[in-house]
Amino acid sequence: MCGIVGYVGSKNAQSILLEGLHRLEYRGYDSAGIVTFQDGDACLLRVKGKVAGLDSLVNDSHRDDSIGIGHTRWATHGEPSERNAHPHNVGDIFLVHNGIIENYKDLKSVLETRGYSFVSETDTEVLTALVDSIYQQDKNLFAAVSEALHMVVGAYGIAVVAKDNMDEVVVARSGSPLVIGVGEDETFIASDPSALVGNTDQVIFLKDGEVAKCTRDGVTVKDSADQAVEPIVETIEMDIQAMQKKGFDHFLVKEIFDQPESLSATLAGRVVKDQDLLRLGGLNMSEEELRAVKHIFIVACGTASYASMIASYYIERFADDVVIDTVVASELRYRSFNVPENSLAIFVSQSGETADTIACLKEMKQRGVRCLGVVNAVGSTIAREVDGGIYIHAGAEISVASTKGFTSQVVALVLFGLVMAQAKGMSIEDVRPYIDELDALPEEIAAVLDTKNEEVKQLAADYSHYEHAFYIGRDVLYPLALEGALKLKETSYIHVEGQPAGELKHGSIALIDDRFFEVAFVMDNELFEKSMSNIIEVQARGGHVIVVTNSSREIEAERVVRIESRLKMFTPLLFNIVSQLFAYYVAVNKGNDVDQPRNLAKSVTVE
Ligand code: AGP
Repeated sequence: MCGIVGYVGSKNAQSILLEGLHRLEYRGYDSAGIVTFQDGDACLLRVKGKVAGLDSLVNDSHRDDSIGIGHTRWATHGEPSERNAHPHNVGDIFLVHNGIIENYKDLKSVLETRGYSFVSETDTEVLTALVDSIYQQDKNLFAAVSEALHMVVGAYGIAVVAKDNMDEVVVARSGSPLVIGVGEDETFIASDPSALVGNTDQVIFLKDGEVAKCTRDGVTVKDSADQAVEPIVETIEMDIQAMQKKGFDHFLVKEIFDQPESLSATLAGRVVKDQDLLRLGGLNMSEEELRAVKHIFIVACGTASYASMIASYYIERFADDVVIDTVVASELRYRSFNVPENSLAIFVSQSGETADTIACLKEMKQRGVRCLGVVNAVGSTIAREVDGGIYIHAGAEISVASTKGFTSQVVALVLFGLVMAQAKGMSIEDVRPYIDELDALPEEIAAVLDTKNEEVKQLAADYSHYEHAFYIGRDVLYPLALEGALKLKETSYIHVEGQPAGELKHGSIALIDDRFFEVAFVMDNELFEKSMSNIIEVQARGGHVIVVTNSSREIEAERVVRIESRLKMFTPLLFNIVSQLFAYYVAVNKGNDVDQPRNLAKSVTVE
């Protein structure tokens, strides 16, 4: 997704802006640009493609400017190009923008009558002209931005500078995150705190409707009614370590191997085995309120929605008086749905900035539903808007494909389910097996990473040439198959479908021939025989089946990856490690941009 950076101070603005944009690259983009100023002279550099292209331009035109803004663009209006890249310039105004201006065509028509013409296809250029048309009246940038935004319909996070004003960067947000870093005689701006790492840990999270003037002396904030607001400066802990690859070739494989550590961080202080203790601070729900819950909506997108589905299978096993609806946010927000009495809504999001998930959160809050968040990014919009929740503490997840975030989301949701079930009377005898397995899970994941990595790497080499695949599973292994299919398709660009194993014979099996391979997840449980019959059906039609299983029983398949583990309940999360590694090595074999797959963004902050 698009990224914004800004700086005003006494250091070299070009260097600071480029460093910030590099920190935001993981979010996915297709063009980039910066503009810096000195004595009214603007240096605007923009490229189609990567920030590295800007590095080259800066090397050829180095300046000592100390104010500027920058942007990485993920194309919405207008194709990826230098012309459509931000910052946009109209008159004295330079502007970068995340989000979508819905009424930009109306505004454009009005501005054209005032003599403005446009060179790009973007809504952002229209917003830039609108600000300039007001700025020219009295050269007050803070006021001009505020007045322009009152005329705008849509979502935005913006940073604005005027070439004849070397002292201030004006920023504003409505629906697209923006954070201000407060330094000594300098101020930083970013759309994501990770771009501030190494510069400051003192930040102001701008709220929707607020506009801020950032200068070397500090920050002035006013709300949508133009009333002064006292900014709240918070300290954030940004783990620079998580921003580094630590010797791995890609963030994706680093984050796969991070999981024993990241999951331990999720569990720390929450699962205390020797005290038979589970505790979750931050829910802001009493035992009585937990006991009263009868219906849970778990709302998410993509991988987070599959984590939600998996967790719901577990929670239903021990909270049998609760109905759980796991719903994809982009569907729920346009569905007419009823909210039964005693409902709870849980919003699962690694980034905490996914537009569709946020829209559902706002809808549920309007309906008076208690809302919890299961979020990784501290201080993100969802984390700030919910009534309570669980930070998964997985550490910054840089690769677009979510891996450690997924595992920690599942576990955090199961933890919530157990705490709720205990409030409903679940005995410690029934809880203890879960505590034991959750406590052992990081070590079991480490064992799979140690023992299966080379085997899966070879497996990927043998199957990377395929262009089609099915992932299948029964029960909790069905959403696991959905997640495995997503991981492979979004990194390798192979066409992969996840299916309930029992569904193949209802149509999809017509597709199976030599072009396909299949990954079948099989637990050593009461569904083993049924799963094996599905595999036989597929192989009888020329399918090439890879079975991932914890069973030691004889299995007729092209390949079998066996997971040995003492776990009984959370074995699927060990199967998922195999699935993650397989996707990674296939993507590497295909020579793809593993951490920033084409067309994808780390956080989808547009609808
Ligand atoms: C995960 O591999 C994908 N990149 C994507 O499906 C992601 O899970 C989805 O966009 C939701 O993101 P969130 O968890 O930040 O809300």
